[in-house]
Amino acid sequence: MKIGNVQLKNEYIFAPIAGYSDVGFRSLCSKYGAGLTVTEMVSAKGLNFNNPNSEVLLATTKGESPVAVQLFGSDPEQLFKASQNPLLKKFDIIDINMGCPVRKVTSNGEGSALMKNPKFIAELVQATVEGGKRPVTVKLRSGFDLNKPTVVECAVWAQKGGASAVTIHPRFREQFYSGYADWSLIGEVKNAVDIPVIANGDIVDFASAKAVKQVTNCDGIMIARGALGKPYIFAELLGKAYINDVGKLMLKCEFRDDETEYCGCEDDFGKDKVIDIKADILEQIEVLSNFMSERVVANNMKMHLCYFAKNIATPKAVRQSITTVKTLSDLLKVIDEFF
Ligand SMILES: Cc1cc2nc3c(=O)[nH]c(=O)nc-3n(C[C@H](O)[C@H](O)[C@H](O)COP(=O)(O)O)c2cc1C
Repeated sequence: MKIGNVQLKNEYIFAPIAGYSDVGFRSLCSKYGAGLTVTEMVSAKGLNFNNPNSEVLLATTKGESPVAVQLFGSDPEQLFKASQNPLLKKFDIIDINMGCPVRKVTSNGEGSALMKNPKFIAELVQATVEGGKRPVTVKLRSGFDLNKPTVVECAVWAQKGGASAVTIHPRFREQFYSGYADWSLIGEVKNAVDIPVIANGDIVDFASAKAVKQVTNCDGIMIARGALGKPYIFAELLGKAYINDVGKLMLKCEFRDDETEYCGCEDDFGKDKVIDIKADILEQIEVLSNFMSERVVANNMKMHLCYFAKNIATPKAVRQSITTVKTLSDLLKVIDEFF
């Protein structure tokens, strides 16, 4: 799949998830084969005012390629300026958030509130394309008001403004993340635009990925919550993970030579590896420690650990132990005890 002139490694994309799509977790998703990763949403205004929080959100690792940055904003001038920021240089694609349902964001006319005025979307995209001089994508919901879909119109205006792809999470703003994603709307968008359409919402395994392709004829698939605690979902989707004869989850190492750095088997190329959750958690911590203080790493990892714990026998005990974690060494003790 190609977005503008950017060739993705495959059609499976790891979604922007505020609080979870940190550089450490994204690097695990890349290792397991995600075709593209996206940062969590970063305020265009914040970037323009040199908000120090933006910098850590924009951290990337060497193996993470291609990679997109997601901006949010509702002012074409702010988006134009932000997309020229030198900190964004390393990103292959700029995505604009038009789906965030949170009041703090929508009350400024940003996120999903942009879907109330489809025509204006073209202006925002155009400004970002002109500023960023690289492919721009847009992430949409079904619409702002419940049961009043504007997504097809919004996607058409995004294309007119110069968008190179659209991602559709077909829930209304009011639904936040509840109820079901209505994939039929993704199919309607696919019929209305010529640019690639990426399906998102309730895709959690091979069966749902196959089903969404059948229903929508989409070009790409974006996974959010299905990847939390399970970055190897990308290997599963790519047919590169399997259970061996003693019940261990294994990663096939049959990537081409020039892709070895993404499959985690570069030291021992050609040999399948056990997918080791504890090693992955420690790897995520190591990556994060390059960019954040120990306290911030510990806080970040507490939420991730709850998801990683879903794969082990005692998730409740992990959640309870995490409540008392204050430092990185507290966190490492919990990891040693349970994983
Ligand atoms: C906690 C949380 C934070 C999210 N943050 C973002 C974000 O920063 N930008 C964005 O475009 N979508 C965000 N999303 C939406 C997801 O990217 C995705 O569209 C949604 O979860 C549906 O996909 P899923 O069913 O695969 O989870 C967030 C979702 C959750 C649950």
